[in-house]
Amino acid sequence: MNQSQESPMNEQRKKPRFPFPRYPRGWFQIAYSDEVESGSVHPLHYFGRDFVLFRTESGELSLLDAFCPHLGAHLGYGGHVEGESIRCPFHAWEFGGDGRCTKVPYARRIPNKSSIKTHHVREINGLIMMWFDIDGAEPSFEIPEIPETNLEEWTPFAKRRWKIRTHNQEMAENVVDIAHFRYVHGMKIVPQPHLIEPNYPVLKMETKTIMETPAGDVEGILSVEAHGFGFSTSRFTGLVRTTVIASVTPIDDEYVDVRFSFTVHKGQGDSIARGIGKAFTAEIARQLEEDKPIWEHKTYFEKPMLCDGDGPVGAFRRWCRNFYPEWYIEQAAREYREAHGTIA
Ligand code: FES
Ligand SMILES: [Fe+2]
Repeated sequence: MNQSQESPMNEQRKKPRFPFPRYPRGWFQIAYSDEVESGSVHPLHYFGRDFVLFRTESGELSLLDAFCPHLGAHLGYGGHVEGESIRCPFHAWEFGGDGRCTKVPYARRIPNKSSIKTHHVREINGLIMMWFDIDGAEPSFEIPEIPETNLEEWTPFAKRRWKIRTHNQEMAENVVDIAHFRYVHGMKIVPQPHLIEPNYPVLKMETKTIMETPAGDVEGILSVEAHGFGFSTSRFTGLVRTTVIASVTPIDDEYVDVRFSFTVHKGQGDSIARGIGKAFTAEIARQLEEDKPIWEHKTYFEKPMLCDGDGPVGAFRRWCRNFYPEWYIEQAAREYREAHGTIA
């Protein structure tokens, strides 16, 4: 494809796809703990920005903006850990986990203000999470510990990952959209979700459901708990107990990085748990892949034409507004209107 054929497409792509802001505030997974060993350095791209994640020799984890304040090298490509600092690949300046320049090997004085912006990270439930807030505000909530991730009776994570062209909020809305469970996922009984606690930052939903697995139908209760748009747990209790941690992290204006971590209670023995775990993982992965083409191509209506069989979409969308500052909501709506000549 030549340049002139490409440009109309690119032009179209620059139009905002959604009338709400792209990057919500909250905790978002950027890696698994076991992927980041002491002394390792990882370039990351999330929220349309570049970062470097590293663990010092003593095990301290740091997330910094990627670019060296000296002449702009990306610390994630060729940078390496020296004790408690990261060394730039370009001229060997070193920076501590607090972002401060600790060494310029060929200068007598370290320039003032030679520090790099740091970001809050947490290691919890085997995940590494970063805090994001468009205004740069401090964390206003925390991610809870999920006991299943620490207990012997639960299997180690089975992990799945997808890159999807959608928005965190759109994926989250899936949970309250009860009708689609039947028509997209072919569920025999459409779950009747009950929104328990739509407060900042937690939204809880509970529903009776039938989980169809290759090993047969399993009846039970599904409880979903979302802590903002980045982190949620779905617990299925019935004949088997399973938990899925779903992490969705915005990559840029178009894509999100989705990680599902599955664990199964070993109540019925290791090998049965492994078998059920496999079937369960396959079922949830299948469901996500059924949703994916819809998410990637759908549009968003601010005032959808709902009917009485639809779930609590309005309550859900009111909850969503908690995760964007007012100016950001207004700016996104204005940009959408200007690009599309209309409101959604
Ligand atoms: S660009 Fe990093 S030390 Fe020069
Ligand atoms: Fe779905």
